[in-house]
Amino acid sequence: MHREDMDEFVEQVTAQSDLLQTVQSYVPLKRKGNRYWGCCPFHGEKTPSFSVVPDKGFFYCFGCHAGGNVFKFLSLIENITYFEAIKLQAEKLGIPMPQRQKTPQEIARDKEIADLRKVNEMARDFYHNCLTLTRLGEPGKAYFTSRAISAETIAEFKLGFAPHAWDKLSTAFLKRGVKQELLLSDGLAAERQNGGGIYDRFRNRIIIPIADERGRVVGFGGRVLDDSTPKYLNTPETVLFNKRRILFGLDRANRAIKQAGYAIVVEGYMDAISVFSAGVKNVVASLGTAFTAEHCKLLLRYAPAIYFCYDSDDAGQKATIRALSIVQGTGATVRVIVVPDGKDPDEYIRKHGAEAFQQLVKKALPLVEYRLQYVLKNFDHDSLEGKVKALHAMLPVLTGIREPAVLGEYIKRLSQALLLDEGIVRDEFRRFGHQPLPEDSGAVQREPIRQAVRRTDTALQRAGRIVIRLAFQDAGILAHFATMVPLNDVSDEPQREILLALQELAAQGKNSNDTEMANKLSETAMAELSRAMVEDLGVLSETEAYSNAVRVLRKAYLNMRYVEHSQRAAELARQGDTAYVAELNQAQKIKSEMEELQFE
Ligand code: CTP
Ligand code: MN
Repeated sequence: MHREDMDEFVEQVTAQSDLLQTVQSYVPLKRKGNRYWGCCPFHGEKTPSFSVVPDKGFFYCFGCHAGGNVFKFLSLIENITYFEAIKLQAEKLGIPMPQRQKTPQEIARDKEIADLRKVNEMARDFYHNCLTLTRLGEPGKAYFTSRAISAETIAEFKLGFAPHAWDKLSTAFLKRGVKQELLLSDGLAAERQNGGGIYDRFRNRIIIPIADERGRVVGFGGRVLDDSTPKYLNTPETVLFNKRRILFGLDRANRAIKQAGYAIVVEGYMDAISVFSAGVKNVVASLGTAFTAEHCKLLLRYAPAIYFCYDSDDAGQKATIRALSIVQGTGATVRVIVVPDGKDPDEYIRKHGAEAFQQLVKKALPLVEYRLQYVLKNFDHDSLEGKVKALHAMLPVLTGIREPAVLGEYIKRLSQALLLDEGIVRDEFRRFGHQPLPEDSGAVQREPIRQAVRRTDTALQRAGRIVIRLAFQDAGILAHFATMVPLNDVSDEPQREILLALQELAAQGKNSNDTEMANKLSETAMAELSRAMVEDLGVLSETEAYSNAVRVLRKAYLNMRYVEHSQRAAELARQGDTAYVAELNQAQKIKSEMEELQFE
């Protein structure tokens, strides 16, 4: 697409976006004058320091200094990039993205992807019909019955059966005009070793279609009917099928995940299907591969918490620990659902029923608790060496605890369990590099993704923000201010960055707007701009506030120059250079202007 098309697109989305409405769909706000206040969704707090000024189009949190426009808000809360936020908003508003002219290669690739999707859909229906409508499907039906999988579940997940034959699907599809290469690149068929032709990859297996989060079939899992191996055969990596990024069931679960506020992650397809059918619909499976950072990111779009419910065997526990370490540090809340009896959630549900499983979910252990139990069970903590190892295995999760009381409790329990002196545990913990937080964050809906920080705030910085606020709205003000204080000499770094960016826009004849600024500015500078826009000026009018601010900043600037000239004069005098007189005169002149300013 052309650059101008893109600009126009962003402008259109910006114009139709309503910051207040967007924020309110995530955070309850209360109105006070022309601004709205609420508890910040980005860090834990009980008293509101999160503020939105709809007229200006900015939000700002005085606690954690998050700030920006509507897209910045969406990108923070949805855990997506700034540009993804624009696209998301455009989608919500029904504004189409401008299309760039595609290269022939891109057009060909798009067509291939569309064809692959089409063939996958055909294959899903083929397997499903084979199971439900034909005699060839009878072994599949019998298998599902033996696992107590109902007809509704089969219909819901469009489960299927690949018949016990070499080329039923291939032949049928070739006949319907599907190209052989397409069957190969889609992983539905493979080439015969000797002699030409192809044969079906999936044979005599029940088939589980795998979709992406938008419900488009990207691949299949096929399970044997007996104990032969491999138990599962999956679509190989194709253009569409990337195990690291796909979570089985997400297309059905995403709404339930949003509603519940957490996603349950299980290891196997059958587990996900069982759990879903047991009425717990916020469940996905990670396809037996390790849970990846990509999986995590995908889930965090829907909810801030993830509950792992892996197999209860050794491998499952190890996989849980690995998954936990992936999720730690992303800001997600993590819990572990422990299955006490039976190998996996599916077996547990078959044995004890849906309600018993729902109880397990309610009793999900917090990350630290699970880790503590795991460490105590798996480390031989009789020897001193074992104790130290166990202690060190706990330190990374302990540092994630924000509430001092909870931390104290765990340190106590850990030292008791390991029979170590509590002081030693505390020392190790401190050595590990934990900085206790000053703030006590209580129960919050969302695990904080930022922390409250205290920033210095001088009169000079406040004055800078007033100038920024007015200069943002009026390029004339910026020009005036630049004659009073050269922008390069503004001492506060983020503020200097903002003013220079505004100047650059003005020089290009562009109006300042938040999207342009968001592109140019660093995170800190953007937050400072937001703060400038939402800050209360007290009783002063904007013009009064501006003239006071300019006086403060001009004085500071003059003072800096005065010091410079005086020091230079002193140096020259020491060297016996008579140029010192001129320097002194300069300094003197500056000083008198400073004095005049005093009385203005
Ligand atoms: N898996 C695989 N290939 C295998 C074995 C397992 O891809 N040979 C993947 C599958 O995605 C499977 C998951 O790993 O769903 C979990 O494997 P496992 O625990 O062995 O299977 P279950 O889910 O218990 O399957 P079932 O109940 O049908 O025996
Ligand atoms: Mn199982």
